[in-house]
Amino acid sequence: KRRDRIRNFSIIAHIDHGKSTLADRILEKTSALTQREMQDQMLDAMDLERERGITIKLNAVQLTYTAKDGEEYIFHLIDTPGHVDFAYEVSRSLAACEGALLIVDAAQGIEAQTLANVYLALDNDLEIIPIINKIDLPGAEPDRVRQEVEDVIGLPGEDCIPASAKDGVGIDEIIESIVEKIPAPQGDPEAPLKAMIFDSLYDPYRGVIVYVRIMEGTVKPKQKIRMMANGKEFEVAELGVFTPKPTPKDELTVGDVGFMIANIKQVGDSQVGDTITHAAKPTPEPLPGYRKLNPMVFCGLYPVDTNDYNGLREALEKLELNDSSLQFEAETSQALGFGFRCGFLGLLHMEIIQERIEREFNIDLITTAPSVIYGVTLTDGTELEIDNPSEMPDAQTVDHIREPYVKAEVMVPNEYVGPVMELCQKKRGDYVDMKYLDENRVNIVYNIPLSEIVYDFFDTLKSSTKGYASFDYELIGYKESNLVKMDILLNGEKIDALSIIVHRDSAYDRGKHIAEKLKNLIPRQQFEVPVQASIGQKVVARSTIKAMRKNVLAKCYGGDVSRKRKLLEKQKEGKKRMKSVGNVEVPQEAFMSVLSMD
Ligand code: GTP
Repeated sequence: KRRDRIRNFSIIAHIDHGKSTLADRILEKTSALTQREMQDQMLDAMDLERERGITIKLNAVQLTYTAKDGEEYIFHLIDTPGHVDFAYEVSRSLAACEGALLIVDAAQGIEAQTLANVYLALDNDLEIIPIINKIDLPGAEPDRVRQEVEDVIGLPGEDCIPASAKDGVGIDEIIESIVEKIPAPQGDPEAPLKAMIFDSLYDPYRGVIVYVRIMEGTVKPKQKIRMMANGKEFEVAELGVFTPKPTPKDELTVGDVGFMIANIKQVGDSQVGDTITHAAKPTPEPLPGYRKLNPMVFCGLYPVDTNDYNGLREALEKLELNDSSLQFEAETSQALGFGFRCGFLGLLHMEIIQERIEREFNIDLITTAPSVIYGVTLTDGTELEIDNPSEMPDAQTVDHIREPYVKAEVMVPNEYVGPVMELCQKKRGDYVDMKYLDENRVNIVYNIPLSEIVYDFFDTLKSSTKGYASFDYELIGYKESNLVKMDILLNGEKIDALSIIVHRDSAYDRGKHIAEKLKNLIPRQQFEVPVQASIGQKVVARSTIKAMRKNVLAKCYGGDVSRKRKLLEKQKEGKKRMKSVGNVEVPQEAFMSVLSMD
């Protein structure tokens, strides 16, 4: 059977351990094209086929390989995103596979994302083929890493394939082991259709292009399909595989990995992890593992120039077409005016969106400090979810507040164990576990509030370990904490966009720090500006921005008007990223200043 000769797999690795390089080597032996050539070819294809215009993500390619047994095999190499924010997408890409190549750098050994990816692969019952890459490096220690794979991951050390993706060493063995070790897909082509969505993207010409893995059944063009998460129905217009060119097929059946176009207008209707079935003969049970993705980190986005408000809305709408996990709604801030409250999967996701708005849509933004979602129980029993600190109800009406916690794993060389534990304690972490990976490196596990991760964790971790730490986390749930809302007042006026939620024990220090920081960030005004941090009515810290010593206009006293105007123009220029809050000019950095510790 054709299906016995299909192998579906991904490559998983910590960043920089050689995933792309190995993929290139595999492509060279199976498609006569390297990844770069594929990309070029696709760009050409896209130019040529403008009117057909399929936008392609190179994340599921079909390859063919004639193995030593003389048979021709069909490989589907499925790419996975490489960041903790997108862990769910990674897990769904892996669910589309029967096996994974696990790359570990021979000089660095197992790192945090190695382990995180292994957990996801094991959750999906994948056959894992361990590869020790970069054995050509002078610092390579393949035997130590082999031992680590055995001790930490629990795979037999002798199964590791030593390789150098750079020099092409071990590649044949890797490809043969894909054939030998990774099982062929299982399933009944006659059963009701179960196709799993592992990715999708919006194409302006064709609508949504859905990346699917067929788990059960068979699908053909013109058939009516149903999305099981929301029940919406569509008619299949086109099916195919990427070779890497999009190549139409007259059916996709069990084990196949390809694309589906069905006149779907929003990526939100083709959610990652969802099951597609036939409308006429639906399966009773969707595939396991579907989860609606909820944003974890929120912030306010405001145009510096209020005239950009509609442009900002259009930018967000455009980005949302391709990103169903981006959320936004209009909000008004007393301090910043009209803007949007936006929800993201994590910090990287947030930074990507902010940067795209500024770069692709040319809109200067004021962004407020990111916040997590707090669970608030009021004294009358009402439950609220608060993602904007300024909306936290008055302390008197609050019974208790819960906050999201993550399990954080940090891997570091021995000598940094002290600083890492100190940091985790300072971040209100609860110690969970510490394990030696080998005699030089340690895996430290803490449960830490997500808000503390958002608040300057990465940067501090990096600087206190000279960049040697690797880090990964996953959400584990909510826990009650002694949290309070802290307001910041400028010139006696509460600035809603600067409010934050803090732990009571660190409120005084945070308040003091923010007051000092704002004093330095906000330029002197014509008058003295008091800065206060308060909890309820109680001021916990204060500082003062002194009045400008010299009035710029004083220089032109009695002078000519045009010079005066020029000076004013110049000042305006410098205020590009300033927001007039009450009667105080506040620069963009100030809104983020509540975030960093230094
Ligand atoms: P990300 O895409 O950033 O996650 O990295 P990656 O895992 O795809 O790694 P990539 O293939 O980009 O390789 C990272 C670096 O390691 C590059 O500079 C490669 O040239 C280098 N590299 C990859 N394989 C080898 C190898 O076998 N030996 C040596 N010496 N260097 C290698």
